[in-house]
Amino acid sequence: MKKHLLLFSFLFFLGNFLFSQATWSDDVAQIFYDKCSKCHRSGGAGGFSLVTYQEASSLASFLYDQVNTNEMPPWPPDNNYMEYAHDRALTPTEKTTVLSWLSSGTPEGDPANTPPPPVFNSGSILGNGDLEIQMPAYTSQATSTADDYTCFTIPSGLTQDRVIKAIEVIPGNEAIVHHALIYVDSVPLNSPTDSLGSQCITPSSNTASLACGFAPGAVPTIFPSQDPLKMGVHMRANSQVIFAMHYPEGSFGQSDSTKVIFHFYPPGEPGVRDVFALPLLQNWTFSLPPEQVTSVSASYSISSNYPDLSFISVFPHMHLIGDNMKVYGLKPNQDSIRMINVPHWDFEWQDFYYFKNMKHVPPGTTVKADAVYDNTSGNIHNPNSPPATITAGFNTADEMLVVYFHLMQYQAGDENYNMDSLMNLTFADIIENNIEPSNLFVYPNPFDKDLNIHCQGLSPGDNVTAYIYDFNGKKVKELLKNRIVQNEVLQINWDAKTDRGVEVNAGLYYISFSVNGVISHQKVIKR
Ligand code: HEC
Repeated sequence: MKKHLLLFSFLFFLGNFLFSQATWSDDVAQIFYDKCSKCHRSGGAGGFSLVTYQEASSLASFLYDQVNTNEMPPWPPDNNYMEYAHDRALTPTEKTTVLSWLSSGTPEGDPANTPPPPVFNSGSILGNGDLEIQMPAYTSQATSTADDYTCFTIPSGLTQDRVIKAIEVIPGNEAIVHHALIYVDSVPLNSPTDSLGSQCITPSSNTASLACGFAPGAVPTIFPSQDPLKMGVHMRANSQVIFAMHYPEGSFGQSDSTKVIFHFYPPGEPGVRDVFALPLLQNWTFSLPPEQVTSVSASYSISSNYPDLSFISVFPHMHLIGDNMKVYGLKPNQDSIRMINVPHWDFEWQDFYYFKNMKHVPPGTTVKADAVYDNTSGNIHNPNSPPATITAGFNTADEMLVVYFHLMQYQAGDENYNMDSLMNLTFADIIENNIEPSNLFVYPNPFDKDLNIHCQGLSPGDNVTAYIYDFNGKKVKELLKNRIVQNEVLQINWDAKTDRGVEVNAGLYYISFSVNGVISHQKVIKR
């Protein structure tokens, strides 16, 4: 007994020694900035801000459970089953640090060591693209007990076939766009505006192809676009773009107008590999009796005449009473290819999950999804009270079992690319590919405190906007917005300060200069 006590107090001491050191300024602030503040900031989707020491420490007991149970940050896939790009979960070390800090009185440490809080850019990260589609302004019809699911179909106006390199979804009202699914329909007449009336959770056109998902905190979809790996999805001329929007309870009366920005490869770009977004797994024949938990599967056997494939991403899709889903492949030799395990389905946090390493899927493989639905009255998401039989369909109260994949023809070595780093291209990488000669002159460069920006060749009536972005694509300064110029020459001055009046750190910055919507960039270095 005594021995146990001794051991116990030793462990207790060790625990204190190892963990009681965590302070906000030295250890915790950066984790919050990286893993929480993106959604938990003023105006963000998280509903309350977790940026400052006061904000985080005053909510300690409230935060503890959410972190301890992995409810927050939201990241549905089981990382022990498979790893993905853009992983949002806390690492085991980060989780330990945060929990021990929360349970040990949230010491602040020396405020002077607190890293500067991130600047969040609520606009576009990738900047203007080649095609921007915006849904009309819409006022949420969600009630205090029911969410609003609404679809909009908008003609793209695209006059020739293009290949998508990147897609960014920009919510019109971050606080109420809980998720959005963006589809591209190559057959324009197939997508009439789906049932408004808050019932469209998935568009009904069978030619609508899912292009990307958006949930709070989502990053833009950026396909690798430089040798040795260039890939993209075809978008046909005259396609339509469908927005399947979800506005949560409590958003009634608030308005939104979300937009999606497509970036294309230049027409005829060589060496781009065709990526297909396909709903390979579907089951439309199931029926879920009330007060039962039912297992439903879908499978697809890839013909042995097909070429080898590389699977790039997986997107499991169910509606409200989905409980869990596992997706995997069975090779002809019965080896399995793990794809995704979502142990607790949450229809609010669905997305494409890009494999950290592409999956090599040989011909003859059977791809399978095993899903479970909970149609009992104990399921708080059950749309019927009392529960009723639910069958497959597009409306909110119907269910679905569909799994989308991005895939392409396999080439040797595909499985070795690190998609996490290739799909995390920085703003700088993208801009660097887009720097074109322009009528913009900046001097001196490098500069200390006073940068002159000189633009010539304008015409009276031109509409000019000029922003300064930092290396990570965060907008630090709005120099001009929609200024109508009267002269052929425009002279602007930047005092090296942010919009908040703070002098920026030394480093690389980009001037983004738009004349009537045509953007050019210049690099400048602050000493
Ligand atoms: C990707 C966006 C996102 C990230 C990242 C995120 N949250 Fe949240 N959080 C939300 C949203 C949205 C809600 C509102 C409830 C919901 O929809 O689940 C929420 C709710 C919460 C709640 C309240 C839960 C409740 O029951 O009301 C807590 C506490 C919380 N978050 C803590 C955290 C912490 C701590 C982190 C970082 C470790 C974090 N969140 C990261 C989006 C996020």
